[in-house]
Amino acid sequence: MNHESFAYDDYDYPGGPIYHSHPRHLQAVGYLSGWRPPTLATARILELGCGTGENLIPIACEFPSAQVVGCDLSKRAIRFGRDLCDRVGLPNLDLRHESLTAINSDWGQFDYIICHGVLSWVPKAVQAEIFRVLSQSLSKHGLAYLSYNTLPGWHLKRIARDAVRFHSTAGGKPHDSVAQSREMLELMVEANEGLDSIFGRLARDQFSLLCNCDDGYLFHEYLAEHNDAFYFRDLVSQVASFGLRYLGEARRDEMSVALLPSRVQTLLQQVDRCEQEQYLDFLKSRMFRRSVFCRSERSVVAEPDATRVASMSVTLPATGIDTAPSAGAQQREPAASSDPVQFAIDRLSAVRPESIRIDSLAEQLGLPVDEAVVSVLHAYRCGWLDLLVEPHQLVAGVSERPRASSCARVQALETGVVTSQRHESQTLDAAERRIVPRLTGTTSIDEICRQLRDESRESDSRDSATTTTRSGRAESAVRNCLKALARKGLLLD
Ligand SMILES: C[S@@+](CC[C@H](N)C(=O)[O-])C[C@H]1O[C@@H](n2cnc3c(N)ncnc32)[C@H](O)[C@@H]1O
Repeated sequence: MNHESFAYDDYDYPGGPIYHSHPRHLQAVGYLSGWRPPTLATARILELGCGTGENLIPIACEFPSAQVVGCDLSKRAIRFGRDLCDRVGLPNLDLRHESLTAINSDWGQFDYIICHGVLSWVPKAVQAEIFRVLSQSLSKHGLAYLSYNTLPGWHLKRIARDAVRFHSTAGGKPHDSVAQSREMLELMVEANEGLDSIFGRLARDQFSLLCNCDDGYLFHEYLAEHNDAFYFRDLVSQVASFGLRYLGEARRDEMSVALLPSRVQTLLQQVDRCEQEQYLDFLKSRMFRRSVFCRSERSVVAEPDATRVASMSVTLPATGIDTAPSAGAQQREPAASSDPVQFAIDRLSAVRPESIRIDSLAEQLGLPVDEAVVSVLHAYRCGWLDLLVEPHQLVAGVSERPRASSCARVQALETGVVTSQRHESQTLDAAERRIVPRLTGTTSIDEICRQLRDESRESDSRDSATTTTRSGRAESAVRNCLKALARKGLLLD
């Protein structure tokens, strides 16, 4: 491997939290498959191709007794991650500038292994190494997350990839190639303006989105030397030859047949789970998957036991910062307010971002637990609700000495884009950026107001936070801001 001219050292790839790759979601998939996956607080967690570490850093911060390891071949990305890690203060996170091909038994076994956005973008030999690592390093009760571009849907994106590669000067500077790619995409959109052909719609729906995407994403997804998309059935059979079994998608609604026409549902119900998934990829032209695997020797149940499910918690699904395209996003169908799912959604919206245990939901509804479980499982499969074994560590209320994670406090100071306790990106406004770094859990709201007032006396700034502070309404402005931060999932107990 040539470490000298590595594309990810030449041009940054945007990092950030990947909601569905969080071990909490993998744990839920394992639990619903019939066993109790390792507790998150003390788990060993590995990320292959972790880039800048911005997915792992909030996880390591959330679980200080977990052992978290990330590896990436990009020196530049790992340097960025280590610097951030030092500022956050995370002795439990080890970011290694190593190829994943170097992972051996000395690294130990891991309860959760994440590999997001890597498999499709590396040479075949490294793809095989990813399967080897999953097979050798996954603990007996562990879960692995693997995302990859999927066929047949990716054929559609391939048109854009081939076009921008054709138009960009081979061997040119990354920055120039990105500019040329945008030029080509705009040309394709413009040439098809107003046309009601299949290609016209593709240009409007897909290529115009790409015109606005991040430079790093465009470069590494569309201009990258390697970009393989897989048929699900081939991927699963290859992974099976490494002793791993497919459990399902980390984003459960992408497996749902519930909202398909009943004749299609009946046909799909006649084939096994993996065949059904392959049919769904053809029917929905899926472009991307986030698949979860366990060791083949694990026994797995087809239907979860209602008593076990009753102890899980329901939460609202991702608010959607996960950048990978979704092939199966489904809309909530209208329902009466007496419907258990509608009741759950209303309750969760009222206590957002907290979650609610299913047995407690059943009690509030006056329903037998079994009935509540059936409704909640249906909602989970449709993507209306998420299910968790271990709920998020956050609070909806504001205490007198509020606390945000050390990761969010550092991110607020540096970029203003922070990772919430739900593992979602949140962009802070100017007032929030000034408050979050002060949320140590030891400083009172009164003291925070006093600090802001002192600061605004020294500053000539005319931003809204300063003006509010000066006008003597500091305390209510700060309290409102804290409530907003709580709803964004940024406050801890
Ligand atoms: C598309 S980026 C994804 C980064 C990160 N997982 C994310 O989703 O933000 C692919 C990453 O794989 C890394 N990579 C490629 N080959 C690798 C190898 N052999 N070992 C470790 N990392 C590798 C690259 O450096 C890059 O950071």
